[in-house]
Parts: sequence; structure tokens; C-alpha cells
Amino acid sequence: MSDATDLSRRRLLQCLGLSAAAMAVAPEWLLAAVEQGSQERPRQTEPDIELRITALITELPILSSDRPTKVWKFSGELIKGPAGTVEAIPDSYLGPVLRLRQGQKVRIRFHNKLPEDCVIHQHGMLVPEKADGHPRHQIGSGQTSVYEYTVLDRAGTYWFHPHTDKRTAEQVYYGMAGLILVTDTEEQSLDLPRDEFDVPLVIQDRSFDDRNQFRYVEHMHDRWMGFLGDRVLVNGKPDFVLPAATRAYRLRILNGSNSRIYKLMWSDGSPLTVIGTDGGLLESPVIRNYVMLAPAERVDIWADFRGRKVGEEIALRSAAFSGVMPMMGMGGGMMGGGGGGMMGMRRGMRGGMMGRMGAALPHGSEYTILTIRIVREERDQLALPRRLSRIERYRLQDAANTRTPRSIHLSMRGMSPRLNGRSFELTKVVEEEMIPLNTLQVLEFVNRDHRARGMMMAHPMHIHGQSFQILKRELAPGFEQRYASVSQGFVDDGWKDTVLVMPGEKVTILKRFDRYTGLYLYHCHNLEHEELDMMRNFLVQA
Ligand code: C2O
Ligand code: CU
Ligand code: CU
Repeated sequence: MSDATDLSRRRLLQCLGLSAAAMAVAPEWLLAAVEQGSQERPRQTEPDIELRITALITELPILSSDRPTKVWKFSGELIKGPAGTVEAIPDSYLGPVLRLRQGQKVRIRFHNKLPEDCVIHQHGMLVPEKADGHPRHQIGSGQTSVYEYTVLDRAGTYWFHPHTDKRTAEQVYYGMAGLILVTDTEEQSLDLPRDEFDVPLVIQDRSFDDRNQFRYVEHMHDRWMGFLGDRVLVNGKPDFVLPAATRAYRLRILNGSNSRIYKLMWSDGSPLTVIGTDGGLLESPVIRNYVMLAPAERVDIWADFRGRKVGEEIALRSAAFSGVMPMMGMGGGMMGGGGGGMMGMRRGMRGGMMGRMGAALPHGSEYTILTIRIVREERDQLALPRRLSRIERYRLQDAANTRTPRSIHLSMRGMSPRLNGRSFELTKVVEEEMIPLNTLQVLEFVNRDHRARGMMMAHPMHIHGQSFQILKRELAPGFEQRYASVSQGFVDDGWKDTVLVMPGEKVTILKRFDRYTGLYLYHCHNLEHEELDMMRNFLVQA
């Protein structure tokens, strides 16, 4: 094998999170994929998996069976591949759960039956530009398109949702999202809870009008801050109860909300055992009293109900926190009680108009997300693995720009949230957004716009393409109090594709841009912000 091939092989393996040791046993298809070279589109011969996804509008009983709710959804159908690849969530607006395996070649035939444009984005996965769902690839009503990719990502909980220009937030809100559960040999070799004990849980907040219809943004304020619903749905259902046995479970939690941030906590105060984040399993389990989960973030929880009694209930709650919302209306009081600023403003200045939205469930208040009800005894032999996966650590000194991090400054001036002062332009990139292919880059998200201090708020920042690693978080002096109630809830040890950047914070990340050239988006995953064009392109180029 030539040096060049060897190098590209190493890069791909790196990008897959495989070690040099794993390389020796890397499957043949993988090596063949590398030998095809990284620039060209992967040669799609016959796919292993072929499926049809249709975007459509339908009705579902969410709150009551006699007053159904109009929803928008992705419905899926397996054309070719193992049974169980496409699994619908019964009676839910959520799209199907796609179960994929690393190495599979996937073809998705997308049919848009919405009355408007749509496009599918595979969130968290490294796929060719054409399959990534950039808004410039959106298709009109009645049209079809085809996405093709090879599953390169490691085992993990990924998801798909529209990325339609100026319509992403609405389309997701009205129901369009689905899960992609990828598995690989490393994960398969572990004794983790499987099948019915491996439970995907999508948390979303919604508002309903008195005719049980979804109510979305009514005022500019809801876009500016992000839309908050007044009740929590799990897998598309209110008052969600998971009947469980006295054994270990793997709970894969996705925050599929447009803007709401959760502070996950068990109702009995027992700590959370985190085994995975956005890009799959951690190296080893991490124990936390609470876990912050911002929009688009995922977390895998090992939940062991051994020793509980049949009939017992335990709730997954969102605990009280503050500091994520703007402080305006507090006289610039950066040191104040956090979320109180915004609430104060709502009641004081605009009470009548704002009082309603999210009032039943203010951001950072305490409420139940879902309930686990122990319904039967069962013994399992599963023990929490002490070692979950191997993660090759990126090193700052290996970055192509070790001394010159690419800074992305988050700001909310005028009436538009921005990235480095810029708004989204469909295909535009500036010099600092051009990234050489197959490089490790150091980037920093900086949420310190001191000229608009009162408007600083938390932004869940996301980058398309392969997952990144978080190198460090730094907090500017004066923000400690505002940070206090969330500070212990970030699980930064594993692979991430979305990171919550708090007011006053600078978060430094290391990310590779391997394999595919083209336009890859980065944006705030507060979907109202994304829709206000808090989004830009990176151009990855050879
Ligand atoms: Cu889930 Cu561009 O995002
Ligand atoms: Cu994405
Ligand atoms: Cu934002």
C-alpha cells in the first residue's frame, strides 16, 4: 500500500474513531472505501438499505381521540434491507426510527407531499454534501429526491429533520423529526441493554390551542428568545409513562425541542449514569447529579431499576436553573438571579401579551418530563461496563491552526442573532469559513458580546459533518453566579456535534473535516435563531 493510501486510510479510521489497533482488523469494505479516495462521491453500487421517506400532513390523536391534532411528519417504509431497519413509533408524529449499522450503504428516496419545500438533514452524521440536506438542495411540493451515503459514523443516537430555508423551525415544530440509531462492532461487543430495554426518548415542548391544534410563534419575541411550549411531550405523547421491569435500561434521550433546555434529574435525587453523548458511547460511564440537555443534544443514560418495587414510580424531571435567558430589563444586572430577568420583563413591560406563552412552563422552572412505572420483576445479569468505547483524543498541537483558532462570536444585536456579525447567505462563505479538507481544526464559540450584554443568552451551537471534541470551557469573570445552576451538568468527555455555549463562555473545540468537500452548515440549534439566520456555511475544499 502506498504512503498516500496509508495516510488516507489512517485519516478515515481516525474519523471513524478507530484506533491503530482496530485498523488491523478493519473490515474490508472500509479499506475499500478508503482506497476509493476521499474527494469523489462514494461509488454507490447497490445499497444495502433502501427506504422511502415521505413528508406529509396528517392528523393524530395527541390530547384526545375525538379532537385530533394536525401534524406534519416523515413516514418511512423499508424497500430493501433487514427487517427492523425502519420502525414507526405508533401514533406519533415523529418519523420512523432508522436502525443502521456502520458500513451500510443507504439509499433514501424522499417524496415531498407537503404543500411547500422540504429537505432531509441527517443530524450528527458525516455524509456527502448532497446527502446532508443543505437548504439549497430542498425540493418543492410533489417532488422527489434521492440521498445516498455510507454509514461512516460510530454507534450512536443521531437524528434527521428538515433544513428548509426559513421553514426549519416550523416544520420541526409541527412534527418532522426522526431518529437514526447506528450500531457498530465495538458497541455490539458490549453487554448493553438491547431491544425493548434500549429505549429512545424524544423530548419536545409544544403548545396547543383550545381545539387541540399546535400553536406556534405568535410574536416576534418568541422568535427572538426561541419558542417555548407549555407542555412536554415524549415521543409525541403527553404525560408519558414508561412501564419498566426491575432491571437495567439504556435510555437514549434526544432533546428535539426548538429552543427549550432541560436540566435532567431523577425525582428521588439519585444520580444519573451517563454512558453516551451526541456521537455515541463515552470511554467510561460518568456520574452526574444532573445533566443539561440543550436542543439537538443527545445523552444515553444507564438506568438500573433493580431493587425497586413493583408499583413504584420514579420521574425524570427538569430541575430549576437560571442564566440561559437574556437579562434585559434587569438594568444590566448581570449578577442577578438569571432567568428572572426575562420573566420580570414579561410581567412588567409586556405582561398581557407575553404572559401566556410558556407561562405554564417558564424556561428553567421545575417540572416532570416523564414517569417510569415499575410494572414487573425481572432479573438480568447486566452489569454496567466500566469501559464502554475507545476514543482517540485529538490534540491541540495536531491542529492545522493550533495558534489561530477560528473564532465564532455569537451576538444578538439589532433584531437578529448573528455569527461573527453575519447572517446566513445560502451559498456564501468568507475567507475564514474556508476549511482545507482532511484537517483537524481548532474552533472557539465566544458568547461575550459586551456591547449587548443584556441580550446575551445561551446558544446551542451545532456543526454539520463529523462529531467534534470539546477541549475546554472558559467563563469570563462576572458570570459565575449566572453559571452556577448549570455548571455541573455538561458532559463534555465524549463526541459532540452540538454544544451549549452559556453567556460569558468561550468553548474551544477540536473538529476534523474529513472525506467530503462542499458546504457544511454551522448554526445555533435554537431553531428560531436558526430561522433568524444565525447560521453560516463552512466550505470544505481540497
Ligand atoms: Cu440538527 Cu443543521 O441541524
Ligand atoms: Cu446537523
Ligand atoms: Cu441561539
